[in-house]
Amino acid sequence: APSDRVKLVEVGPRDGLQNEKGIISLDTKLQLIDRLAKAGLNNIEAGSFVSPKWVPQMDNSSEILTHLLTKPPSAPSPLTFSFLAPNQKGLTNALSILSAHPDNYTTASPTQSKPAVEIAIFTAATESFSKKNTNASIAQSLETYREVIQSAKDHNSSSPLRVRAYISVVLGCPFEGYDVSPHRVAEIATELLEMGADEIALGDTTGMGTAPRTKELLTCLRAAGVRNEDLAMHFHDTYGQALVNIAVALEHGVRVFDVSVGGLGGCPYSPGATGNVATEDVVYFLESLGMDTGVDLDAVADCGEWISKEVGRSNASTVGRAVLGA
Ligand code: HMG
Ligand code: MG
Repeated sequence: APSDRVKLVEVGPRDGLQNEKGIISLDTKLQLIDRLAKAGLNNIEAGSFVSPKWVPQMDNSSEILTHLLTKPPSAPSPLTFSFLAPNQKGLTNALSILSAHPDNYTTASPTQSKPAVEIAIFTAATESFSKKNTNASIAQSLETYREVIQSAKDHNSSSPLRVRAYISVVLGCPFEGYDVSPHRVAEIATELLEMGADEIALGDTTGMGTAPRTKELLTCLRAAGVRNEDLAMHFHDTYGQALVNIAVALEHGVRVFDVSVGGLGGCPYSPGATGNVATEDVVYFLESLGMDTGVDLDAVADCGEWISKEVGRSNASTVGRAVLGA
């Protein structure tokens, strides 16, 4: 039977902040990561080695990675940090920082003194979104990632970097609507796994996913031989369906979910899409099911309120507002 332990991947510092127009200081980003870590979120997507012309907000990801390697936050449990890389250049930038601090991280299980670092790549289930987000067709992006994965594994052959692979717009596309084929998603997932990706994160970028379509997608992936252990679900909450979709995925046996504190976020290349499902909402929901997340709900609610104020937004977490009586 699937376990009661759920892994939450906190993407607030990356997906949550990447779309903010006002420049958020390095200090605020580091404080956010520190607060999340202290609240028990031990898997944190901390930045993105993408082109600063495309996503200016992620421009100081080098400083963030350097800081996390040299002054890792103190936290109740060992930490894993991931960073996006859209191509060889992004990976090289990340690897050069890792090479400068070879004793300060691990690619295996993290310890209290050595965080783990991993890379995340991202393609899409539709041609239009792939083009808008990375200026490449799906096939071109897969060719790029074949090399990126290889380089991430070869960097240190005795300890290959773990690579997470996102597929965006799996349940709806801002340009192609609901016309996204679950079979195409299964094909792309299979190809990424064959290339050596360690995990497939299925992105409902637009929040257009519904319970029946989530079920259909997961059933199709299972039929194609993609195992639950290879999957993470990345729901945006634009239509308020994220928790329902998570319930469906849990029932199916998936145990890894991406969350964003305060419900922050959105993709700059997905017009109208709002943030990821709020960390606070998911923690509250999982606790109600008797499932274990390792996250301190009060601490993460405080963090959500704080970062919402910092970026000048109202707190988008329903549970966060309720817990705080706000
Ligand atoms: P391009 O313009 O086709 O790239 O962009 P290029 O190779 O022609 O290079 C153009 C310039 O960018 C050159 O500089 C390169 O050096 C530079 P110039 O010579 O003009 O001065 N460049 C870079 N600089 C820094 N880091 C790099 C890099 N690569 C090239 N890695 C590219 C192609 C992929 C770079 C671009 O489209 C890009 O950066 N896209 C990223 C878009 C993005 O970050 N989107 C948000 C993340 S995905 C997401 O949010 C979805 C997700 O949450 C899941 C979901 O919800 O579905 C993950
Ligand atoms: Mg996203």
